[in-house]
Amino acid sequence: MGQAGVNTVALAIFSWDRIQPTEDRWDFGWLDRIIDKLGNAGIVVDLASATATAPLWLYESHPEVLPRDKYGHPVNAGSRQSWSPTSPVFKEYALTLCRKLAERYGTNPYVTAWHMGNEYGWNNRYDYSDNALNAFRLWCERKYGTIGALNQAWGTTFWGQEMNSFDEVLIPRFMGADSMVNPGQKLDFERFGNDMLLDFYKAERDAIAEICPDKPFTTNFMVSTDQCVMNYAKWADEVDFVSNDHYFHEGESHLDELACSDALMDSLALGKPWYVMEHSTSAVQWKPLNTRKRAGELMRDSLAHLAMGSDAICYFQWRQSKAGAEKWHSSMVPHAGPDSQIFRDVCELGADLNKLADEGLLSTKLVKSKVAVVFDYESQWATEHTATPTQEVRHWTEPLAWFRALADNGLTADVVPVRGPWDEYEAVVLPSLTILSEETTRRVREYVANGGKLFVTYYTGLVDDKDHVWLGGYPGSIRDVVGVRVEEFAPMGNDFPGAMDHLDLDNGTVAHDFADVITSVADTAHVVASFKADKWTGFDGAPAITVNDFGDGKAAYVGARLGREGLAKSLPVLLEELGIETSAEDDRGEVLRVERADETGENHFVFLFNRTHDVAVVDVEGEPLVASLAQVNESERTAAIQ
Ligand code: GAL
Repeated sequence: MGQAGVNTVALAIFSWDRIQPTEDRWDFGWLDRIIDKLGNAGIVVDLASATATAPLWLYESHPEVLPRDKYGHPVNAGSRQSWSPTSPVFKEYALTLCRKLAERYGTNPYVTAWHMGNEYGWNNRYDYSDNALNAFRLWCERKYGTIGALNQAWGTTFWGQEMNSFDEVLIPRFMGADSMVNPGQKLDFERFGNDMLLDFYKAERDAIAEICPDKPFTTNFMVSTDQCVMNYAKWADEVDFVSNDHYFHEGESHLDELACSDALMDSLALGKPWYVMEHSTSAVQWKPLNTRKRAGELMRDSLAHLAMGSDAICYFQWRQSKAGAEKWHSSMVPHAGPDSQIFRDVCELGADLNKLADEGLLSTKLVKSKVAVVFDYESQWATEHTATPTQEVRHWTEPLAWFRALADNGLTADVVPVRGPWDEYEAVVLPSLTILSEETTRRVREYVANGGKLFVTYYTGLVDDKDHVWLGGYPGSIRDVVGVRVEEFAPMGNDFPGAMDHLDLDNGTVAHDFADVITSVADTAHVVASFKADKWTGFDGAPAITVNDFGDGKAAYVGARLGREGLAKSLPVLLEELGIETSAEDDRGEVLRVERADETGENHFVFLFNRTHDVAVVDVEGEPLVASLAQVNESERTAAIQ
């Protein structure tokens, strides 16, 4: 570890069974020795609450702590997180462990942070046990106060689901094949799943904080553009610093997806330093096909995380194990041992990170963009319901498509949760943001009225936060802001021969999966692109993209799914119409340029990453500090980045 420049280790995450081998035996000796050994080598410890996996004896003596699946069957013990967060028995055991750890290590100088749980909710987010049912009833009562309010919120008159009291509230257990869950109930059950785990985390945190009040708490989030396990916008307020586990998406979106996830992380960090708690040196072992990172990507990915605002770069895992479920997962020291390319790269990275730290990187933060792409966990959950206009549309795909299309046009956007300060940006994108609550509606209206530049897409503002449709034509609560009225949708696909599976636009782009039927355009709006289609489709000449004047601001509406490519092609006109400046023409697209700076401007770092698979040649000022995958030509002041 010394050779690799490691200075922090997250420890004992799955070690409850070693710390408490039987109900009445505690063994801290091994942990004392490891912490001491690390500390003496100058390595600090992010010590786990160790509650992620309970010991088998606990499941044996208290099988009631096991969660139940939606069929009501208890989940079997033997993996991770096989416990129900609403089980009072489990909580008691877990809090006892937390207190014991706090008593033993609270004043240990080498323990500098608490690592609570591990990826809360990954395996036990949906629990259909009676404990969960009881907790859900209480949660509903706290939220709605009266059963009438809950009936109204869930629209229970439809399909005769009216409840007489909170004792009749159900969790969405299996109701027979092809049964549809009440969407209001589903959305609340998702929120409840988040809240019960957050409450569990808080109880663990508070148990430790009572004994050890002065050390920071974190827990590793799973922020990535294909995951929405928890509503991390709610969790961010409850930790002292956020940290994230990010695993790369192989293929052409690799770098962009990483940057987009980190853009959200940097917003969740609320201006405080944040950690990449886990990423991989190369392949993982949990996908059907586990591709390796190509040479140089280990370093490139770590530097990209750093560029996007992270202040610590950690890997899962130090040594690749010989046995167990993750033996094929890459690590810092691979099976081949230290005489390996991976370990040499890890050491080089360690040296580079030290160099950047010496140059003052840690005093800097990601320089904020002028464009915010809004992201919303609850909109994602709402679009995951099975009774929607199409199963092809989910919220998350759109923030990523916009992030990439903006990058294609020379703009690295921030990704900001819906409850975050997106209205402080020069321009804002609402990408398939299905839920617009009254509060968000108010913010959107004020933002544009006061001069904001807004992009809105199809599938935005269909419902409020009870999942009730905003009536009168879509997007109901901001129809006048965008200046269009949509009466129907046209989902597309090739499931049936001869069905419409795409629509061409007259700006040369193509819509797939979804188009709005825009039936009127306000006098204050104009059409920027129209559909160009066969007569039988009813779409020929219909508006597809519009721009509206509203108050002192402008709102562009994109009424079809154009994907990254179509958006990238449509954006130059829209950016110009909305008055958003981008970088020079020749600097667009191939390179992701990210900057970090401190408040004084004294420390300022520029990071350049190649987004393509071809070599990109860029101008460089001054002497590059670190150059992974790049050959610097000092006389010409250029760098060729692979
Ligand atoms: C994470 C988890 C780690 C390890 C890793 C493998 O989800 O926190 O313990 O399993 O994935 O990629």
